[in-house]
Amino acid sequence: MSEYQNLLFENDNGIGVVTINRPKALNALNEATVRELDKIIDVLAQDDSVKVVIITGSGEKSFVAGADIVEMKDKDAMEGREWGILAQGVFNKLEGLAKPVIAAVNGYALGGGNELQMACDIRVASEKAKFGQPEVTLGITPGFGGTQRLPRLVGKGMAKKLLFTADMIDAAEAYRIGLVDQLAPADQLMDAAKKLAKTIMSRGPIAVKLCKFAVNKGINMDLESAIQYEDEVWGLCFATADQKEGMKAFVEKRKASFTGK
Ligand code: CAA
Repeated sequence: MSEYQNLLFENDNGIGVVTINRPKALNALNEATVRELDKIIDVLAQDDSVKVVIITGSGEKSFVAGADIVEMKDKDAMEGREWGILAQGVFNKLEGLAKPVIAAVNGYALGGGNELQMACDIRVASEKAKFGQPEVTLGITPGFGGTQRLPRLVGKGMAKKLLFTADMIDAAEAYRIGLVDQLAPADQLMDAAKKLAKTIMSRGPIAVKLCKFAVNKGINMDLESAIQYEDEVWGLCFATADQKEGMKAFVEKRKASFTGK
């Protein structure tokens, strides 16, 4: 029996595919699922055989339809706060994972579902996916990072429009405003996400990891400090075998063979 009740996991030649699997509740995130996500992120961090992670939802209808409203409805203020802190910690951990994480958004990405995909590095969405932050229809604000990651991705005005109205948008609109980075026909979503993963896996792994850290750290710094941080990261690359190999391969007009050292 799998050690996860609400997740499926498969390692496809270095691509670790995590599937949120609560189809009866459209993959809504209850506490047990968030705790399992926490656990699997720790496992993925340690598992050197996994190079890139893809997160998706089971079934064709939903990626994640938000936090579990049934479980949440009777919480008091402290319980609500603790629930938010728990999930935010897990999403932050996912965002900080030292390997690329791709969201393959196969359907509804609402509330906590949109917040989950926003905590991933790159978002590939099915043309049938739908996005929104419906929290204000429930009398709450988003609580898993939505008020913060959404404006950072789509700008303040568009974020407030989505937050204040709770309007759902389709995949084409999500792509237009930069909420997702790539679209794919529904039946080709996983192929598209895996193709992207394979391209990333063919590049210098340390350089990719350092790009992730530079973007994530730098975006929260003033520009001068961020550029300085980039200097350090860039300098560090020259201490790697991958840099030597990458540049040697260029000069020798062949494809680089990176070792991640
Ligand atoms: N929590 C718990 N159960 C949920 C759920 C959720 N977020 N979303 C869907 N479900 C359940 C439904 O209750 C239903 O269960 P039953 O069959 O037992 O009645 C089942 O999933 C199927 O859902 P629907 O019958 O509603 O399906 P639909 O096709 O008619 O509608 C939907 C689909 C538009 C996504 C609709 O389910 C919906 O609006 N879901 C709630 C979306 C939402 O408000 N998400 C935000 C949650 S709050 C949050 O996430 C806060 C945060 O910042 C973390």
